[in-house]
Amino acid sequence: MREAAAVNAAAWNHQALSAGNPDGQTVGRLELTQYPGHGPGIELLGDVKGLRVVELGCGRGHNLAALAAAGAYCVGVDIAAEQIRWARAAWPHINFYAADALDYLADAPPADLYLSIFGAVGLCEPGLLLRVLATTLHPQARLIFATPDPGWLADRSGWLSSPGGRQFPVRRWPLTLPQWLGQIEEAGLMACGHLVVDQPGTQQPCTMIVTVERRPAGGRPC
Ligand SMILES: C[S@@+](CC[C@H](N)C(=O)[O-])C[C@H]1O[C@@H](n2cnc3c(N)ncnc32)[C@H](O)[C@@H]1O
Repeated sequence: MREAAAVNAAAWNHQALSAGNPDGQTVGRLELTQYPGHGPGIELLGDVKGLRVVELGCGRGHNLAALAAAGAYCVGVDIAAEQIRWARAAWPHINFYAADALDYLADAPPADLYLSIFGAVGLCEPGLLLRVLATTLHPQARLIFATPDPGWLADRSGWLSSPGGRQFPVRRWPLTLPQWLGQIEEAGLMACGHLVVDQPGTQQPCTMIVTVERRPAGGRPC
């Protein structure tokens, strides 16, 4: 396993083991920021009915549950096997794979929408993941990723705190928005839109949400 993937799997496996019982979950809102109920939700994705959606770094699958309820065909991928165990128990109607996003994408059937909500985009080496996505995305497919603003992460960048108060090292790439846009361009992809969401009640950014498409030969506006 790649070094970053191994470190991150250990942290998020532990988090899943502390997450309580997966039975009897109810479907909530699709959350694209760190603050439940804050910022855009499923409407940002447009009509997802009938779309094949893959979430890279799906965690315990809550966002996929919201998408499946809206009629999307959902696949969840996560490096942490315990997150996937929990997700499968909570949402048996969704397909989940315990895998590194990089490995899954190398050998996956095509999808219409790839999502990373604080997931693999930002937790894998960005150039590597975006180059794999540049070969995976078909011309009508999109990648939408939400990632924490580096200022919001601050000294939380290298650690994940567990409910029991323990801290686990994590490996992130906390890029700024211009750095993300540069990485997208370098990978041969095209950023079609971006949004910065502030923390509730402040003007301090917490989340960057970026929409990416494949760049056709000769380029075109999104
Ligand atoms: C902050 S959690 C986000 C979970 C979920 N997307 C959400 O919004 O609740 C990050 C997740 O990404 C997963 N992850 C980290 N690196 C990954 C990789 N290389 N491939 C797949 N999943 C990865 C972690 O195991 C973790 O479950």
